[in-house]
Amino acid sequence: MPANKKLLILPGDGIGPEVVRETRRVIEWMERRRAVSFEIEEGLVGGAAIDATGSPCPDETVEAATRADAVLFGSVGGPKWDSLPFEQRPELGILRLRKDLGLFANLRPAVVLDPLADASALRADLVRGLDIMIVRETTGGVYFGEPRGVTKGPDGKRTGVDTQIYHEDEIARVARVAFELARKRRNKVTSVEKANVMQSGRLWRAVVGEVHKAEFPDVQLENMYADNCAMQLASKPKQFDVILGDNLFGDVLSDLAAALTGSLGMLPSATLGAVQPSSKRHALYEPIHGSAPDIAGKGVANPCAQILSFAMLLRISFGMEEDAKLVEQAVEKVLAGGLRTADIMAPGMARIGTSVMGEAILRELDKLAA
Ligand code: IPM
Ligand code: MG
Repeated sequence: MPANKKLLILPGDGIGPEVVRETRRVIEWMERRRAVSFEIEEGLVGGAAIDATGSPCPDETVEAATRADAVLFGSVGGPKWDSLPFEQRPELGILRLRKDLGLFANLRPAVVLDPLADASALRADLVRGLDIMIVRETTGGVYFGEPRGVTKGPDGKRTGVDTQIYHEDEIARVARVAFELARKRRNKVTSVEKANVMQSGRLWRAVVGEVHKAEFPDVQLENMYADNCAMQLASKPKQFDVILGDNLFGDVLSDLAAALTGSLGMLPSATLGAVQPSSKRHALYEPIHGSAPDIAGKGVANPCAQILSFAMLLRISFGMEEDAKLVEQAVEKVLAGGLRTADIMAPGMARIGTSVMGEAILRELDKLAA
């Protein structure tokens, strides 16, 4: 088979490189055992890119990402770069990629795998079988709106400004992603905003309602204030199927939903652009956990979220459903067998590090494919 699946891998900072290393072993396994091949390029992003080039997202990285069929992203940021001016921070690496590639729909599953139901901060009966998909808008809203900045007035006092702004087309396109996903799941979308106090929230609710009425009347739509959604997530999370939110509320609520699952170290995500006329669709896959500088370089990070991000990549960018399932099953089997990285450790389980977890997953893959 020709090498026609172009991947750009961006390990980034902190535990990114460690968990990406284990994912590359899974990719190599796929190539060896599944008659598929990838054309892989590796690039710089975040603090690693700042150190090498001065920019958190050099043009070469954006160009390589544009050429690629899919981007596998590690994580960015760390104390080393905390004192840099705002415009040079590592986090701008991911923000620029989202913006320049038009990656507007961020899919964040919060799934409780059976072997980990006891790892949640909530009672196991509240979260067992939990399967929520958060769809977060990622190219608009307050993270990008102008004007923004900190200015000094004539009295010498400073004012900080961010602008929450949404055009109706931005709302409609991400709403469509949420409704389409819901149709393949339990057919319910909960759209969150603060329509009671924010103008952009009023528009959000109106546009989501219009898209629903015109194109997805078969899907159940519920509107909920974002603060209420936070409370509902923390008390009755199983009521949700797909949660749709803007950039800011989606960011916050997806962390909360992730915490319900007991480990950020288990959760992947995908960020998708529009389907282009060529039928190509830009897409970036990254774990939710971030760079975790406190444990970076110690070989103890959980590589599962990064490996599961690769499974999402196989499914969404390449339609390789069977291979995606294989990877997901291998991860679940390892957990069911009692192996745990520190973040998901529980009494009676065996504690292992990053590379042993990677090896265990490869062993399960071997068994599943035998
Ligand atoms: C996320 C992160 C990013 C965000 C940061 C790193 C810019 O929190 O992906 O949720 O706020 O979008
Ligand atoms: Mg976040």
